[in-house]
Amino acid sequence: MPSPSRFKPQTDMARDGSRDRMPDSQDLLAATATLRARVEATLEAALAPGSQRPARLLEAMRYSVLAPGKRLRPVLCYLAGQALAVPLEQLDAPACAVEMIHAYSLIHDDLPSMDDDDLRRGRPTCHRAFDEATAILAGDSLQALAFELLATEVTGVAPAARLAQLRRLAAASGIDGMAGGQAMDLEAETRQLSLTALEGVHRHKTGALIEASVLMAADLAASDASVVTALARYASCVGLAFQVRDDILDVEGDEAATGKRGGADARLNKSTYPALLGLEGAKRQAERLLEDAQAALEPLGEAGAPLRALARFVVERRH
Ligand code: IPE
Ligand code: IPE
Ligand code: MG
Ligand code: MG
Ligand code: MG
Repeated sequence: MPSPSRFKPQTDMARDGSRDRMPDSQDLLAATATLRARVEATLEAALAPGSQRPARLLEAMRYSVLAPGKRLRPVLCYLAGQALAVPLEQLDAPACAVEMIHAYSLIHDDLPSMDDDDLRRGRPTCHRAFDEATAILAGDSLQALAFELLATEVTGVAPAARLAQLRRLAAASGIDGMAGGQAMDLEAETRQLSLTALEGVHRHKTGALIEASVLMAADLAASDASVVTALARYASCVGLAFQVRDDILDVEGDEAATGKRGGADARLNKSTYPALLGLEGAKRQAERLLEDAQAALEPLGEAGAPLRALARFVVERRH
C-alpha cells in the first residue's frame, strides 16, 4: 500500500491554473511545509521514550500520531496566529495539542465498536497493528497529554490566555464537541437525518476541533472583536466544509491518496452529505461554504491570504 500523499496545497491549486487565484501558492506551500515540520518536531519530543512509559503503549501512540497526516489543524492554528502576529513559539503548544486530540479521535473512530476500519493514513489502524485495549489506552493517553502540554507554561503567554485555550479545546473535544458529534454520528446510522440535523453532527464531530484550532490562536492575540468574529465565521465554514469533503472522498476518493478504505460510510449506513444531497449537491454545498469562508476573512485584508488558500485546499483536496 503506497503511503498517502502529504499535505500539498500547491499541487492541488496548481492543477487548476485557469482560475488564477493563488499568486502566492508557492509561498503557502513553503510556509505550510515548515509549519508541518515544526509541529511534527514538537509531537516527536512530547512522545519521546521515558523509563516509566510503557513501551507498547508509547509505540502505539507514536505509530498513530507520527503517521503521515495532513496536519491541517496545526497548520490552521499557525496560519491564524501568523495573521494576528502571534509569535510561532507561542503557537506550538495549541498546534501540537489539537493534533494529539485529533489523532486520539481517529484511533477511537476506527475501533470495531465505532467505524470498524482497518486502514488509516495508509497503514493498518491502531487496533489492528496493536490490539484494542492498547488502541483505547493510546487514545486516552493522547487526550491527557494534549491537555498537559497546553497547561505547561510558556514564556510570554499569559495564564488567562492559556486558560481560555484549555477551556476551548476541552469544550471542542468532549460532549459539546467532537465526542458529542461522534455519538450523534453513531446514532444516525439507524435513521435518516434532515440536512439541519446532519449539519449539526458534522459541526460537532469535525467542525469543533477545526474551530478550536483557529480560535486558540486568537486567544493569544489582543485582536479587535471584529477580527475574532471574522475568524470564528471562517473556521465554522471551513470546519463544516472539511467534513463535507471527507464524505465526498469516501464515495469517490482514491484509497492510495486518502490512506483510508473507500465506501466506509455506505457500509455503515452513515448519514452523509452525498447520501442526502447527491455527490453534485454535496460539492455545491462545499463550494458555497468556501465562498462564505473567503468572504468572512475580508476584515483581515491581505493578512488573511494564506487562510483563504487553505480553505480552498480543504474543499478541493484529494486526500
Ligand atoms: C479525518 O481527518 C477525520 C475527519 C475529521 C474527517 P483528516 O483528513 O484531517 O485526517 P489526517 O490527519 O490527514 O489523517
Ligand atoms: C470522523 O468522521 C470524525 C472524527 C471525530 C474522527 P469519519 O468517521 O468520517 O472520519 P474518517 O472518514 O474515518 O477519517
Ligand atoms: Mg466516524
Ligand atoms: Mg471513520
Ligand atoms: Mg469519513
